[in-house]
Amino acid sequence: MERRKVLLREEEMPRRWYNILADIRLNPPLGPDGKPVRPEMLAPVFPMNLIEQEMSPERWVDIPDEVLSIYALWRPTPLVRAVGLERALGTPARIYYKFEGASPPGSHKPNTAVPQAYYNKVFGIRRLTTETGAGQWGSALAFACAQFGLECKVFMVRVSYDQKPYRKTMMQTWGAQCVPSPSPETRAGREILARDPHSPGSLGIAISEAVEAAVSDASGKTRYSLGSVLNHVMLHQTVIGLEAKAQLAKIGEFPDVVVGCAGGGSNFAGLAFPFVYDKIHGRAIDIHPVEPAACPTLTRGPFAYDHGDTAGYTPLLPMHSLGHTFMPPPMHAGGLRYHGMAPTVSQLAVEGLIEPKAYGQVETFEAGMLAARNEGVIPAPETNHALACVVDLARRAKEEGKEKVILFNWSGHGLIDLASYEKYLTGELHDIAYPAEDIEEAEKILERYPKPQILKSR
Ligand SMILES: Cc1ncc(COP(=O)(O)O)c(C=O)c1O
Repeated sequence: MERRKVLLREEEMPRRWYNILADIRLNPPLGPDGKPVRPEMLAPVFPMNLIEQEMSPERWVDIPDEVLSIYALWRPTPLVRAVGLERALGTPARIYYKFEGASPPGSHKPNTAVPQAYYNKVFGIRRLTTETGAGQWGSALAFACAQFGLECKVFMVRVSYDQKPYRKTMMQTWGAQCVPSPSPETRAGREILARDPHSPGSLGIAISEAVEAAVSDASGKTRYSLGSVLNHVMLHQTVIGLEAKAQLAKIGEFPDVVVGCAGGGSNFAGLAFPFVYDKIHGRAIDIHPVEPAACPTLTRGPFAYDHGDTAGYTPLLPMHSLGHTFMPPPMHAGGLRYHGMAPTVSQLAVEGLIEPKAYGQVETFEAGMLAARNEGVIPAPETNHALACVVDLARRAKEEGKEKVILFNWSGHGLIDLASYEKYLTGELHDIAYPAEDIEEAEKILERYPKPQILKSR
């Protein structure tokens, strides 16, 4: 029998996260005065222990025991050999995936939700606010807050709130409150609703609402939590790649190619950063973040300073961006509808250490169907983007007769996303173009801000 999966024992779970800031150089985030942000400026938004982690240059960061104990509910996750997919494609490539859909909310998101809730709790915070696109992040934070007895309020992007009502039910089951965004509860939400009462919302708008709700709470016991983009989020997710490395080593494998879908960049980073380390230190690996052609942040967006949210509450971050007012079309991979990208992932793209790819919605669902039928698990629409790239690479390996080792992140299951599969199956799911004029518009918005330097880490 061929080997289908490689498991680690609970005791073999990594005890430290990998911090890529030890190995690359980043432009600093800028405050409203145009100067680098100082830690105390972020104090109304995040607890100081997480701010310190955000700025830490230490290569290895210990994972607290309390976090490990909750990780152990679903970690270590299996590394699965996609034998069914390989057969269906007739490829000589060996395809492996980390299955992050095994967590209670069904994705990689609790890898950071749990430590974020933990550090907030230790700092004396009682309530967290956040945004959610697809609903995976909101439900992960709701789950994590329930573990530490914190209150949780989630602003969910309107279009996803309507497409996926059961995500709201999940959050409520874990004790969180979930409201559709834009909402009348914040100034940022009211301004958008005044312009467009039927706005489908966006992650940028929902972030503005959640930040506003946190900083305007007079008790001082509320903070904001972000599910992607920031350095500490990428750090927490590296548990995925560190486990994958240990699992591959058990069977004497090392990837030629690493692939992950990219919304704000965290599941991609989580799998890829420990391998980027090897690439920086001389190993040949192709590394691909994959995004929607309808929201092509890394493949077409300029590298610039921009806000992380629509209202401009966040510091200016050095990143690839489609402009913070960009309203991504209501496609089905809600978690990939974001105008920006993690500064760390953006920096790697600028340096050519990773090579971004973009796919249309229909092609991603074709790959998702192929994977579901041959591997069993129905993938999240976001994961389908990684799958589209993997299918391409596996077909190319067949044409070239090459035995490539492909590793990708199966970032979540799609069992709460079946409405999108229904659309695909009934022929109602179409590609959505990203118009060239939108890039000109983005460039105009971004012209207002300072330009980041083109830094070289090596
Ligand atoms: C299943 C899944 N994969 C990927 C993403 C994209 O986010 P990120 O780029 O931070 O991993 C999301 C976001 O909600 C998601 O739910």
